[in-house]
Amino acid sequence: MSNKNVLGIEWINFFSATPDMKRTYLGLVAHFFLAYPLGNLIVIFPLLLLSTFNWLIILAYIAWYFYDRKSSIQGGYKIEWARRWKVNQWFADYFPARIHKTAELSPENNYILACHPHGIISFGIWANFATNGSGVYDIFPKIKFNLCTLAMNFKIAIRREVLLLFGCIDCSRESIEYVLDKCGEKGRALALVIGGAAEALDAHPGTHILTLKTRKGFVREALLTGSHLVPVYSFGENDVFYQMSNPVGSKLRTFQEYARKVMGMSLPIINGRGFLQLSYGYLPLRRPINTVVGAPIEVAKVENPTKQEIDELHEKYLEKLVELFDAHKEKYGVDKDTRLIIK
Ligand SMILES: *[C@@H]1O[C@H](CO)[C@@H](O)[C@H](O)[C@H]1NC(C)=O
Repeated sequence: MSNKNVLGIEWINFFSATPDMKRTYLGLVAHFFLAYPLGNLIVIFPLLLLSTFNWLIILAYIAWYFYDRKSSIQGGYKIEWARRWKVNQWFADYFPARIHKTAELSPENNYILACHPHGIISFGIWANFATNGSGVYDIFPKIKFNLCTLAMNFKIAIRREVLLLFGCIDCSRESIEYVLDKCGEKGRALALVIGGAAEALDAHPGTHILTLKTRKGFVREALLTGSHLVPVYSFGENDVFYQMSNPVGSKLRTFQEYARKVMGMSLPIINGRGFLQLSYGYLPLRRPINTVVGAPIEVAKVENPTKQEIDELHEKYLEKLVELFDAHKEKYGVDKDTRLIIK
């Protein structure tokens, strides 16, 4: 390609870009504003300025906010409009992000999709399950997917509406149990990225390290609601950003672990690409993300699961996840001797 390298930075040459490059660039930029907290802020700020002197707009929003306050814990919005936007497909095609189905999901059951690894911001899960960008509506036509994320996100004006339009809901117990049990529907699937902020600190290209050994809340919820457990692994999720080296015990890691405990955010120091050049920035690199959806593990509903029942199912889950990883790793660029590390 004829990108120009000036001052050690690789600038994008838009004039020689192919139609595919232009489309996927548009998809990437659009989803920067939709998915990133920072991107949302850039959109919200001018709106705030606009409405500063207009009390009517502010009052109308406050009324809406109050009216809509339970959506994130009661299954989210019904409308699927934003999830079908064409720009989502361009975004998924950027990496490209793809779903690989290994078994059917029957609409007679509900599911918890336990997704790994978290990566820096889980682009694969966003592209594949929050949008129809890679065709999830065709791949699992009878299942309704919702992505679960931190309650904090639904407190922020505009960000909450954006996330809800993309099918995101609160990851609290109350919210999960509402969708999988109380609302009485079937064919619902909740995607949970189990490792969270802790796992993001291990998201270095080429690594496969999960924070999962002591995370059992999702197993308990599966038992409580009788939802089948589906292991999901996104090959390539850790490859879309470089992260500054932070081995356990280093000063940086110690600080990051501290920040995570105090603020709930893990502050990985990352580098990807920028809007105009490919050398620095917070946009992800163009590397494939292959999300393999495993076969569901059947779970029968238990009113009060005991510690032993939870541990047994967790053990079985880990076994199935490792099997899934090993069965598919070589197809998606992982060496046959590479093991999944579970911390
Ligand atoms: C979902 O995406 C697939 C593949 O891109 C497309 O063929 C299909 O029409 C889309 N479905 C809806 C309902 O938008």
